[in-house]
Amino acid sequence: MGLDALLDWLPPDSPEVELARRIREDRLPVHIAIIMDGNGRWAGLRHLPRVEGHRAGIDAVREVVETSARLGIEYLTVYAFSVENWKRPPTEVNTLMTLLKRYLCSELDTLVRHDIRFKVVGRLEELAPDVRAALVEAMEKTAAGHGMQLNIALNYGGRAEIVEAAKRAIVAAIRPDELDERAFSGFLYTAGQPDPDLLIRTSGEMRVSNFLLWQIAYAEIWVTDTLWPDFRRPHLLEAVLDYQRRDRRYGGISRPVAASR
Ligand code: IPE
Ligand code: IPE
Ligand code: MG
Repeated sequence: MGLDALLDWLPPDSPEVELARRIREDRLPVHIAIIMDGNGRWAGLRHLPRVEGHRAGIDAVREVVETSARLGIEYLTVYAFSVENWKRPPTEVNTLMTLLKRYLCSELDTLVRHDIRFKVVGRLEELAPDVRAALVEAMEKTAAGHGMQLNIALNYGGRAEIVEAAKRAIVAAIRPDELDERAFSGFLYTAGQPDPDLLIRTSGEMRVSNFLLWQIAYAEIWVTDTLWPDFRRPHLLEAVLDYQRRDRRYGGISRPVAASR
């Protein structure tokens, strides 16, 4: 995996090759997080039911997962369903869950073949037993993967995660003098993972919608008007290139953008 692997895989003379050649391998984001938004609007523009937008969004997920893995991204977190998304009509929620199950079923072999490790960030307990079973199976079957870690944020809420982490810290009877930011991170769903370097949001909304509130403290944010079902390889490569032009200061003084670890 890496830039050369990606270049070998891209169709020669495609516009993506030109973009990929400009990427600096020594400055890749270690962790990319994506708020996949705009499925409903994509469907609306085509006079289709909203769920057709979710269906179409699966192709974008597939392409982004494979491209990120080939590029050598170590962690990819995609926001699939928030704790607030239960407010949507039950038919839409059910379709989303069915699509997720189908995605896992059809992609599991590909994930294993690409050495990808799959993990859910969010509250599994509140999901239907069949969805939970599919998720657990995907986590178990990919557990030995040494390639990219693919996190799916599902029934996820940033504030809920922080409250849960606080509860876990209490249960672990951690002493106040031991509880610093690093120790607290260890109680989050993303324990042991580096924070996202790059946060992508599609469909033009300038908000974080309760996503990874703790972890995105210093993430570089890239927003595109492109609706999620239209998001493809070139958009991802553009986002990475833009990230590589950023000056990450972390409250300090100017220094070139670099992977966070
Ligand atoms: C994102 O698309 C998918 C989920 C939130 C599950 P939306 O369904 O939010 O689409 P818009 O924002 O209404 O266009
Ligand atoms: C954020 O999108 C959640 C996911 C992408 C899963 P929403 O569409 O739910 O966010 P808001 O309501 O526009 O803030
Ligand atoms: Mg939305």
